[in-house]
Amino acid sequence: MISIGIILPAAGSGIRFGGQLPKQYVLLGGKPIILYAVETSLSIDGVQSVVIPVSPTDTTLQTLLKHYSIDDDRINVVTGGNTRRDSVANALMNSSIAEVDVILVHDAVRPLASKKLFEQIIDAAYREGAAIPCVEESDTAKIVRNDFVVDTINRSEIRRAQTPQGFRRDVLVSAYNNAIRHSLAGTDDASLVEASGQRVRCIPGEPANIKITTNTDLTFAASLLSK
Ligand code: CTP
Ligand code: MG
Repeated sequence: MISIGIILPAAGSGIRFGGQLPKQYVLLGGKPIILYAVETSLSIDGVQSVVIPVSPTDTTLQTLLKHYSIDDDRINVVTGGNTRRDSVANALMNSSIAEVDVILVHDAVRPLASKKLFEQIIDAAYREGAAIPCVEESDTAKIVRNDFVVDTINRSEIRRAQTPQGFRRDVLVSAYNNAIRHSLAGTDDASLVEASGQRVRCIPGEPANIKITTNTDLTFAASLLSK
């Protein structure tokens, strides 16, 4: 069986979402958003460790895990960084995932990704080295500079990248080493893997697998959940 480590970056402060409580702890359908990703991760065959980077002073996650009776030795809460990249980099150093075959990175604020999607990404990542869920874009995408359009992108070639993104461990570790050496940022893990020269396989994502970025996203997720 493929051995798996899952990183759930949760060290953001949710500026765009607003409010006092970081969005990963806000309730969705009566349960904190982050716990959906934690429970799905723990339910996957072969998962050895779920590493969760949180902000240095954040004790909320530990409190919630206790409150919801989620008591699993495979959960490892670690300290995150100032950017998502640094949070994932810190998690990658955790010894609990030093030997796994495949690492998945999944935003703590994507509660509705299915177990099936996790499994498809694991299989594709193991076979191909790197795999991500992609969905088609229905709006036309423009390149804009100083409020004027400079180009229109061929929509048929555009995909929106979701998480979980999966990688063979060595692929992800060398991509992160390369990114830190060359000060590359990137808004997802695949972009760092692409920059390291590794091919990234796209597999169909899920329309319901939205990232909770704003309050509108939370309203939408609640309506999806109630269906
Ligand atoms: N994240 C992280 N460490 C950071 C920044 C973000 O682990 N320093 C995590 C967030 O907690 C979230 C995921 O990366 O689960 C996706 O990031 P995003 O949606 O941008 O969340 P925030 O950075 O919290 O929100 P914002 O950008 O609006 O402040
Ligand atoms: Mg952010």
